[in-house]
Amino acid sequence: MDGGIAAVAIGGAGLLTGSLTRTFGRAKHSAPQQSAAPATTPAQSGPAPSVAAASVPVGGSAQVKDPATGDAVYIVQPKAGQYCGLSAVCTHSGCAVDAPKNGQLYCPCHGSRFDAATGAVVNGPAVKPLPKYTVTQDGDKLNLGPLRS
Ligand code: FES
Repeated sequence: MDGGIAAVAIGGAGLLTGSLTRTFGRAKHSAPQQSAAPATTPAQSGPAPSVAAASVPVGGSAQVKDPATGDAVYIVQPKAGQYCGLSAVCTHSGCAVDAPKNGQLYCPCHGSRFDAATGAVVNGPAVKPLPKYTVTQDGDKLNLGPLRS
């Protein structure tokens, strides 16, 4: 019985700590936002891979590395002002896909093609889309963010 009460007390303290963190972790009160997306903390968790925005024209790309995995990622701009990152690792057997060209990324190993705007499979044998990353623009720089799922 007493152990149960202690567990509840500890659980309650955990909730309180989490609540305080949430309360004081945010500087401003605004309309509810996606809490899953981390605040812009470019210098907090190691160097965020970034490239000059001018190096990624519409339809073009620049390559960076995912700091967590070391995998190559293409930062792309499929439409003016819309940036995202696409993994350069083919979802079929892990070959490196070529940089986007004519709106698609081509895998030279077995011929899969992926949509350069979404990462979706255009042609197999791959069946899963290329993993997609968030990219944020900070002035004239583009910063690679976390994987989207
Ligand atoms: Fe890319 Fe097979 S590894 S198509």
